[in-house]
Amino acid sequence: MKKVLIVTVSKTGTTDHAANLIADVIQRQGHEAIHKSLDSVDSFESYDLIIIGAPINGMMWHPDAKKIIESKAGELQAKEVALYLMAYMLDACRNTWNNKIHSSLNQIEKMVSPISIGYFKGKIDKPMPAIARFLFGLPKELPLDRTEDDAVIQWAETLVSP
Ligand SMILES: Cc1cc2nc3c(=O)[nH]c(=O)nc-3n(C[C@H](O)[C@H](O)[C@H](O)COP(=O)(O)O)c2cc1C
Repeated sequence: MKKVLIVTVSKTGTTDHAANLIADVIQRQGHEAIHKSLDSVDSFESYDLIIIGAPINGMMWHPDAKKIIESKAGELQAKEVALYLMAYMLDACRNTWNNKIHSSLNQIEKMVSPISIGYFKGKIDKPMPAIARFLFGLPKELPLDRTEDDAVIQWAETLVSP
């Protein structure tokens, strides 16, 4: 049985929701999975796999998630690490922006060599102003909630080897 820690930064709950889905999958596979928010974690020591999730804000992975990885890089390098991001505009915005989302974890990847990275669509609470939609090249009919639980579950199923 493996011990898995899922650590999240979540401003509006989407990343936390994904963490709960991931924890369910891993528990169903017979492992221990604990979900904590980033500010309540002090050590990664007792875990076999650490999954760190955060939203994309301002086309960057949330800086708090990046900060903890930088500060604990030594500890994390000795562990299996998986990362995921939630981004409302993922695969819906102009290429230039979409590439920014897809490359937002490049630097972090070099620090912790993750076994996997999950890229998931997020959700917003109210429609974006027309000017922002135009800037990012988003279609008018894009739903506010683009989350896909199935994609998260499928990814989670690949993380812990039987
Ligand atoms: C302040 C703020 C900035 C955001 N910036 C982006 C962005 O640059 N690109 C994007 O795709 N989504 C952006 N989003 C949308 C979030 O990625 C999306 O809502 C995600 O599901 C939020 O995750 P959370 O509920 O865990 O906070 C932003 C949301 C907020 C609140």
